Amino acid sequence: MTAGPSVIHTSGAIRAEVLAAQAAGRRVGFVPTMGSLHAGHTSLVEQALADCDDVVVSIYVNPTQFGPHEDFDRYPRNLAADCRLLGQQRVRWVFAPDTAEMYPPGNATRIEVAGPAEPFEGRLRPGHFSGVATIVCRLFQAVPADTAYFGAKDWQQTLVIKRMVRDLGLPIEVRVCPTVREPDGLAMSSRNAYLTSEQRQQARAFSLALEQAHVDWQAGASVATITDGMKNALDAAGIAIDYAAVVAAETLRPLESLPLETAAIALVAGRLGQTRLIDNLPLSPRGSATC
Ligand code: PAF
Repeated sequence: MTAGPSVIHTSGAIRAEVLAAQAAGRRVGFVPTMGSLHAGHTSLVEQALADCDDVVVSIYVNPTQFGPHEDFDRYPRNLAADCRLLGQQRVRWVFAPDTAEMYPPGNATRIEVAGPAEPFEGRLRPGHFSGVATIVCRLFQAVPADTAYFGAKDWQQTLVIKRMVRDLGLPIEVRVCPTVREPDGLAMSSRNAYLTSEQRQQARAFSLALEQAHVDWQAGASVATITDGMKNALDAAGIAIDYAAVVAAETLRPLESLPLETAAIALVAGRLGQTRLIDNLPLSPRGSATC
């Protein structure tokens, strides 16, 4: 039987553990999460375990990345179940701080983000990426790991974090790992737990719309045609669309004026009742097709 991970609640204690491991020549991987762990998270842990000697998983539902009318209060929390799951992997530490630890009373500092943080989620969720960048920077201070692992499902988040790491010269490597999907294609997300069984069926439309976008992209369809196709598919499934777009994968800018070989990505976001889901699919470069 494997011993479960050590659960550590303070920044000072986890930092000391990580620094001691590194001083002993061990490579440390870090998987930041908000808990309610699923196969998407465990795939990040598996990658971290493959690359590193020791792995830290943080579990903290970060209030500053939720808007006033979002799901902070009902976001699923179950530290005991999460630790049991991580005990089945070879995770060495779980860092589970409370809010006083992450945001000391009287805290007045936030990271300001622009560039890839501006469109899509940034426009619809003001302050969201500032909250993400602030907590991730704070977590990187507490957990001075060699490499941090994030899922491609939150593609825009990965761009914001990579830009922050570059701009602030943070001494950590960021590795982005592929989206993990349910057998029917729905991207794994802690928020899938909110869906009724009917909404769960409707939610298939996100990945189906993206797969069709990929087929149309390879066939040389225009961005406008592909975007309309995604919107029609989401609409037909009863999803209230926030956006459906095909843009440059690394900048989220429109493709029109960019070289044909620019890597592209299809992005979708929409709501089923109170539940908001996002998904994306990278589109491999297509030779001479027009945008
Ligand atoms: O992707 C998430 O789970 C969160 O946004 C993160 C990166 C753990 C920051 O709270």
